[in-house]
Amino acid sequence: VGHELPGIDSLGDLRGRRVLLRADLNVPLADGRIADDGRVRASLPTIARLTSAGARVLVCSHLGRPKGSPDPRYSLAPVAVRLAELLDRSVPMATDVVGESASSVAAGLPAGGVGLLENLRFEPGETADDEEFARRLAMLADVYVDDAFGAVHRAHASVSAVARLLPHAAGDLVRREVAVLDRLVEQPDRPYAVVLGGAKVSDKLPVVAALLGRADRLLIGGGMCFTFLAAQGFAVGRSLLEEDQVAACRDVLAAADAGQVRLRLPVDVAVAATTDDDRASVVPVDRIPADQAGFDIGPQTAALFAQELADARTVFWNGPMGVFEHEPFQAGTRAVAEAVARTRGLSVVGGGDSAAAVRALGIPENSFTHVSTGGGASLEFIEGRTLPGLAVLEER
Ligand code: 3PG
Repeated sequence: VGHELPGIDSLGDLRGRRVLLRADLNVPLADGRIADDGRVRASLPTIARLTSAGARVLVCSHLGRPKGSPDPRYSLAPVAVRLAELLDRSVPMATDVVGESASSVAAGLPAGGVGLLENLRFEPGETADDEEFARRLAMLADVYVDDAFGAVHRAHASVSAVARLLPHAAGDLVRREVAVLDRLVEQPDRPYAVVLGGAKVSDKLPVVAALLGRADRLLIGGGMCFTFLAAQGFAVGRSLLEEDQVAACRDVLAAADAGQVRLRLPVDVAVAATTDDDRASVVPVDRIPADQAGFDIGPQTAALFAQELADARTVFWNGPMGVFEHEPFQAGTRAVAEAVARTRGLSVVGGGDSAAAVRALGIPENSFTHVSTGGGASLEFIEGRTLPGLAVLEER
């Protein structure tokens, strides 16, 4: 039970040694600027620990989903700039991943220095978990540290194959994430409530299925709720709807009726013609106008969810309740974030959009037990799946 991940200490004396540090610096960009630098900040403690130990730190990450060749829209250059600002030191960046530029940046790093490789996904070998590509990455370093919690669910070369080629350890961020999330999987204090949102129900159904019989309460909002509402027989107008998932949602409703979980769906929603509409109106779920779409949960739903969270002893929340980037549709996400923050037990915010929402809404991160840096990774973790990036670190 639980994970036993070797930490940085297990690597011994790092003075002058070259460390390949896999981080998750996959930040949201808007017009070439970093919209939320949470993941860059989250990478700092491990970088600082390695530099203070005298290591030569070569950081690598993916950004977005380029298709295996260089694409300037996904360059890590803005991240190198931000990293340098936050570390208050220069961070030379390679113009390639494992080519001449990477070798020369690596070779030029002094003890205690930090460099960055270009986006790993500019190389086709990355997502293919290719051995040869992993070997070229491994040649740049003496040891490997994985601190990219957000990517541990990917069997990609920089997360998986490379760890088999070098002495390896988990970074402090990965270890902290895993220690908290292990508590959700193993004997959570009850009641255990899970709040799910976000756009795509097809992304979330596996975790919903895994939570049946494990979580006590399941609260569903966000774009994904409309396929559930359709499964309940409501007309959802122009709201997001995944027709081909309606039957699967019906199965979940039946499981809830059979007592496997207390499932709560919205009773009211905020609707408008488009997200740019600043005149949202709130309607009960049986009155969604045919020419409008739901973009947030309504106030009655927010109150209902808050009530279900009030006495919970363990809470996991992943996915915004609405299109919080637009002011008229942020009330639901704010209400849920505040309700999660008020719970007295263990409260965990699953990364990605929900973590970005917490920061965008100005809710202090320390009001939660833990704000994860992993979106998909934290979901797969609480599903109880074996994650390739963690499994490989446990191999000795
Ligand atoms: C994330 O944003 O969840 C991680 O960085 C993983 O990104 P990916 O879904 O593109 O693999």
